[in-house]
Amino acid sequence: MQTPHDNLSAWLEERAAARQTRYQQRKRRVLTASHSTRVSTQGRALVNFSSNDYLGLAAHPEVIAALKDTADSCGVGSGASALVTGYRKEHQILEQELAEFLQREKVLLCSSGYLANLAVATSLTRKGDAIIQDKFCHASLIDAARMSDARLLRYAHADTKALRRRLTAAAGDHRLVVTDGVFSMDGDTAPLREIASLCAESQSWLAVDDAHGVGVCGPGGRGSVAAAGLDGQQVPILTGTLGKAFGCFGAFVAGSEALVGHLVNEARSYIYTTAMPPALAAASRVALKKIIDEDWRRERLNALIEQFRHGASRRGLELLPSDTPIQPLLVGDSQKALKMAENLCKSGFLVVAIRPPTVPRGTARLRITLSAAHDSEQLDALLEAIESCQAT
Ligand SMILES: Cc1ncc(COP(=O)(O)O)c(C=O)c1O
Repeated sequence: MQTPHDNLSAWLEERAAARQTRYQQRKRRVLTASHSTRVSTQGRALVNFSSNDYLGLAAHPEVIAALKDTADSCGVGSGASALVTGYRKEHQILEQELAEFLQREKVLLCSSGYLANLAVATSLTRKGDAIIQDKFCHASLIDAARMSDARLLRYAHADTKALRRRLTAAAGDHRLVVTDGVFSMDGDTAPLREIASLCAESQSWLAVDDAHGVGVCGPGGRGSVAAAGLDGQQVPILTGTLGKAFGCFGAFVAGSEALVGHLVNEARSYIYTTAMPPALAAASRVALKKIIDEDWRRERLNALIEQFRHGASRRGLELLPSDTPIQPLLVGDSQKALKMAENLCKSGFLVVAIRPPTVPRGTARLRITLSAAHDSEQLDALLEAIESCQAT
């Protein structure tokens, strides 16, 4: 007789086989060494072009020292959720410094960007409300909307006419418009000024997830919202992560004092999870200082982006339109994208193939990400390797 265990195993095998035929099987790669852009996996040394450490801060000695020192004095884990005993001085100071940097009244630290987005969507909407999102919004934003009691409406990517239609269709409800600032798999920037003016016109709330923008773009690295000249009135809810340009871990929501007070009291994904380790808050404070003081990192990154795009166009390689460190090369077919990633690995480069369901069907791509820690020679060598693996 079949046991529930047999039954589960058969079902899992069936699902795995279905993924395999669509080239959607995912595997984790173990990195045995990693320092800045240089990593090792399966005995092979590779240059990493698939990290979000855009400013090269993850391996910065001062960031590492702050982590170690604070772990020495405060321990590793925070030991509890923020509302119990997990909220430490390091968290409070980082919140104040981030608020000042982002020019918002308050900031709330969250344990991850996924949880920050969940906190916003689930605590700010109720049954009868609508969340209206760009179709290319990050998975954490889609999941957050699905986990809320609001109705989810989506509009075609960066299409403000389609957004206007959605706003009209959702008239009468509380509307929360949500977009990535910089789109994670495409690297382009949302038309934030137009979106903000549609929100103002329709009395809708606007939440921007600037996970890939803060630290990287805008005046002083204040992100895509600041780059668009928008403030806390026009974008009352701003989320970001400390796991990308900051080179650390954790995330935040920035906004008014009332917004943060509301989240502290009502956002279940904030209330019912262990607070981020205080040592990470201390490391993030040092990273923030580098983001503020060291413009040269962004200047270098921008020079590398220009070099890369110029080199790609000279070689006839078609990158998606993007002026951010996310420079995807559209391949289309998932199997081909996997093959190209494998060939690049043989040539010494770690570039991950992004396939459906992370991106729409038929748009598998190599998501190449640049960092201020790369050098020009590495970029040229990558372009040459892409050109030769495209030819095969
Ligand atoms: C746009 C966007 N939002 C949120 C997240 C999640 O952030 P975290 O990794 O801090 O959970 C990511 C990336 O992983 C992202 O790309």
